[in-house]
Amino acid sequence: MLLNNITLVNFRNYEKVSIDFSNNINILIGDNAQGKTNILESIYVLAITKSHRSLNDINLIKNNKEFCKLKGKIRVNGISRNLEFFLSNKEKRVSINNKQIRKLTDYISNFNIILFTPDDLELIKGSPAVRRKFLNIEIGQLDNHYLNILNDYNKLLKTRNEYLKINIKKNKLNINYLNALTDKIIEKALYIYQKRFEFINQLNKYVNNIYYDITKNGNLQLKYINNLSVDNYDSDKIKKILYEKFNQNLEKEKILGVTLFGPHKDDIIFKLDDNDIKIYGSQGQQRSCILALKLSEISIFKEITKENPIVLLDDVFSELDDIKKNNLIKYFNDDIQIVITTTDLKEIKKELLNNSCIYKVENGTIEKLEEV
Ligand SMILES: Nc1ncnc2c1ncn2[C@@H]1O[C@H](COP(=O)(O)OP(=O)(O)OP(=O)(O)O)[C@@H](O)[C@H]1O
Ligand SMILES: [Mg+2]
Repeated sequence: MLLNNITLVNFRNYEKVSIDFSNNINILIGDNAQGKTNILESIYVLAITKSHRSLNDINLIKNNKEFCKLKGKIRVNGISRNLEFFLSNKEKRVSINNKQIRKLTDYISNFNIILFTPDDLELIKGSPAVRRKFLNIEIGQLDNHYLNILNDYNKLLKTRNEYLKINIKKNKLNINYLNALTDKIIEKALYIYQKRFEFINQLNKYVNNIYYDITKNGNLQLKYINNLSVDNYDSDKIKKILYEKFNQNLEKEKILGVTLFGPHKDDIIFKLDDNDIKIYGSQGQQRSCILALKLSEISIFKEITKENPIVLLDDVFSELDDIKKNNLIKYFNDDIQIVITTTDLKEIKKELLNNSCIYKVENGTIEKLEEV
């Protein structure tokens, strides 16, 4: 997969810029607050339709402007496509080859990216919601049906919770209606569990070897926490367990007014030599764990889509020692497109620099440097 060009209009601190990327390594160099991360963010938004760093889309629009627009020329399996993202305070639109895609979820799996950022440590340190979001975005990039089902699930969950809450006040509940909602929720939940089991199993195929390769010790595994008490996806078994859980919880739910069980409670634990890395791991071990996780994803994306995803590295080299830098570079071969940001070219290993295109980012402008 390749991003040949991206054009930003009124995006963050850019009024209008257009960047032609090389097929391999692209380095964005500039001082702090000049707009390096904003470029990576624009690529992320073009792929995911949402930012990785702000909850409110409106922040993406340049101050005092009415809208922002991103256009990307991508190449997937040898075929070129034009992607477009448009955002105003009234609407968000996306299109492929000038044809609007009505459902954002149908758009997302067309263009795959893997982002490495210093904020990734939150995946370990943050709340379970951070890890569920990670699962949703990554699985969603591979399977847009998953995102449709997830949307359905979230809507049903909201309806069910609202219905339970109304019942607290009125104290009369139509059990047939509630059961019908529960049936539908369980049907959607099964698909979500299936995809999450599959994805976590796939990560586990790679993550331990990569972690060992980076650190030369330790055994890293991801454990999928879902309280289903099963080791693998088994539709009949899980369906039965879900009905049991919903039955057991009903009286409590009627009092609390929330749905107590389901994939909206899922979590992942990163286990290093059987210990939770969140509690026992050092900062360095946690960072290596994240690197191994993201590198595993590249392999999975390649395995499933038959193409490398585009890799975005936001200022990650400054935090790694030489050994880890070398290990990371090993995974980036010639047929993978990478966009790296840095404030200092010294952070970047020679092997990468020699093959790269370098762009100077300064106060919302970008200039390709012919010689460094
Ligand atoms: N909506 C917006 N409109 C105008 N400017 C914005 C908007 N959002 C962010 N900015 C500006 O963008 C700049 C930050 O850009 P960015 O995060 O890309 O910096 P950076 O080059 O990655 O810096 P660092 O090296 O510190 O990470 C800030 O100066 C910020 O004020
Ligand atoms: Mg930055």
